[in-house]
Amino acid sequence: MGILAVLALPLLLFGISGIIYIYQTVRWLLSKSAVQNKVVVITDATSGLGKECSRVFHAGGARLVLCGRTWEKLETLYDALINVADPSMTYAPKLIFLDISDINCIRDVAKEILNCYGCVDILINNASMKVKGAVQSISLELDKKIMDANYFGPITLTKAILPNMISRRTGQIVLINSIQGKIGIPFRAAYAASKHAAVGFFDCLRAEMEEFDISVSTVNPTFICSYHRQPAPGNWEASIWKFFFRKAAYGLHPVEVAEEVLRTVSSKKQEVLLANPIPRVAVYIRTFFPELFFAIVASGIREKLKTEEES
Ligand SMILES: NC(=O)c1ccc[n+]([C@@H]2O[C@H](COP(=O)([O-])OP(=O)(O)OC[C@H]3O[C@@H](n4cnc5c(N)ncnc54)[C@H](OP(=O)(O)O)[C@@H]3O)[C@@H](O)[C@H]2O)c1
Repeated sequence: MGILAVLALPLLLFGISGIIYIYQTVRWLLSKSAVQNKVVVITDATSGLGKECSRVFHAGGARLVLCGRTWEKLETLYDALINVADPSMTYAPKLIFLDISDINCIRDVAKEILNCYGCVDILINNASMKVKGAVQSISLELDKKIMDANYFGPITLTKAILPNMISRRTGQIVLINSIQGKIGIPFRAAYAASKHAAVGFFDCLRAEMEEFDISVSTVNPTFICSYHRQPAPGNWEASIWKFFFRKAAYGLHPVEVAEEVLRTVSSKKQEVLLANPIPRVAVYIRTFFPELFFAIVASGIREKLKTEEES
């Protein structure tokens, strides 16, 4: 009886872990099969997240159209994909040059994309430009360029691909956005404004496309980190912190975000927020107690400026 009581908890934990593992494996396999043979377009396929999305969709048997603005990087990605995957189970990706901030060219690029396979099943709007700085230090030209890359670019491409999806009454549009499309973070005004604009557009589009069976999803990560800084050798405290709180301190790895994008496509989930508890709570505070949110952000800035002055 005594031994049974001692073993009960580990056995229970072992059983629960096994069930979770099997559930996640089955979900993962179902997600992969959902994209098999589908024509998937990924903009900025060469970014940290774009590369990983290319890898998971390619491994899932999707017919990829990879877009990017640096041809050499696209070719390197192409080689990496075809060298790793089993050619009998995957398709060689098509490559398309696309600078998402060059609005005048996007319609022609959309034609090129459609010529690849004659249709698009899934469009992943991943391309985006980042900028950091105080409002008065960012020129209006740069504000406009950010708006072109993060708002006008993705919506122009989406509008050009939509008639094909509408005529086939099927399709999926995914916007890789950011938590900064939900809350404004100081010194990121242009980026946050463009991400707010994009989420507003795609939220409206979702409702309008329902009658055509076209789904629209937005994926909002907080912080994606493509590398993991190692604590100094012998720094056990940092190692333990990293082990337990890696996501909070170092951000999500692009592989984790890419796998979430695949699950989002497979489940046709409308909105995904990839955030730790603190930013998640911040989104709720911004919605329900805006004055409290503004006060917390302002005091954070005062504290930052004071520390900078002192040092
Ligand atoms: N990183 C994060 O913490 C984070 C957090 C939330 C959301 N996101 C979102 O996740 C997506 C991917 O970001 P990431 O962090 O993976 O990117 P990243 O690794 O930082 O790479 C930046 C990319 O932007 C590309 N780029 C810049 N201007 C462009 C333009 N005009 N046209 C086409 N491509 C352009 C660059 O292409 P070249 O290398 O060819 O110049 C580069 O591949 C973005 O939508 C971003 O907003 C990222």
